[in-house]
Amino acid sequence: MHVYEKRRDIVFSVATLLIEGKTIGFVPTMGALHNGHLALVNRAIKENDTVVVSIFVNPTQFNNSEDLVNYPRTLESDVELLSKLSTNIIVFVPTPKEVYGEEMMSKNYDFEGLENEMEGKFRPGHFNGVGTVLKHLFDIVSPTRAYFGEKDFQQLQIVKKLAEIENMSVQIIGCPIFREDNGLALSSRNKRLNKKQLQASPLIYKILKQVKKDFGTKSVLEMNEWVSEQFKNDEILELEYFEIAKISDLKSIKEKQKDTKYRAFIAVFAGKIRLIDNIALN
Ligand code: PAF
Repeated sequence: MHVYEKRRDIVFSVATLLIEGKTIGFVPTMGALHNGHLALVNRAIKENDTVVVSIFVNPTQFNNSEDLVNYPRTLESDVELLSKLSTNIIVFVPTPKEVYGEEMMSKNYDFEGLENEMEGKFRPGHFNGVGTVLKHLFDIVSPTRAYFGEKDFQQLQIVKKLAEIENMSVQIIGCPIFREDNGLALSSRNKRLNKKQLQASPLIYKILKQVKKDFGTKSVLEMNEWVSEQFKNDEILELEYFEIAKISDLKSIKEKQKDTKYRAFIAVFAGKIRLIDNIALN
């Protein structure tokens, strides 16, 4: 396994592999790796000759500076975990300068409205930051395939749009959400939850599962009201948004239509820690 910090080192290494006709799987991460990340890396290992994992906490996608400062950083154990998966992994751990050059700025993207829904509404500038860093990282890594978890389903749709807009040949692959036994979706931010918050958080997935059950028989309004009700008296969890949205454009709906695919999306605060989750409804 190689760990590179410099852009030129990884560019050189990847160029050599591409000349040899090798395929490159890419798993971009912000570190604090959990089993969800490792599932992405394992899938990438299966489907490609070499796998690149980047570990970079990208400042431009944080709309909340406290969240950026407190984002868990566990580089040593991350590298150790990856080294156990395969010898054929390249870990890229750049500084902001190696990714962005002198000016750390987001580009302004038009993701055809996908960026204005849900996470985009509550985290202004977030998807410009994600799009910009991924454009830089894709340019550096030249991946054949790149892997993203469906926990960030909106991000996954936006990355597919980014590849289209930027005319990149990379294939974007979405992978199922990885959960704790109690249903809590794995997230690096879970590392910041205290005991009470950890005990309370499985409610999020319980609610999503109930919505999925009710989807055939209840109206959207009834489901929205029911979900709000579940959080009303919760002392630990605070609902930020719950929406049922079309998969195609991520616009939330008031009424269901035939032959349309929907997902339910939720964002919840446990203290200052923000948790998101989603579920396919049909
Ligand atoms: O999902 C993440 O961890 C980040 O948004 C990503 C894709 C690594 C970009 O910084």
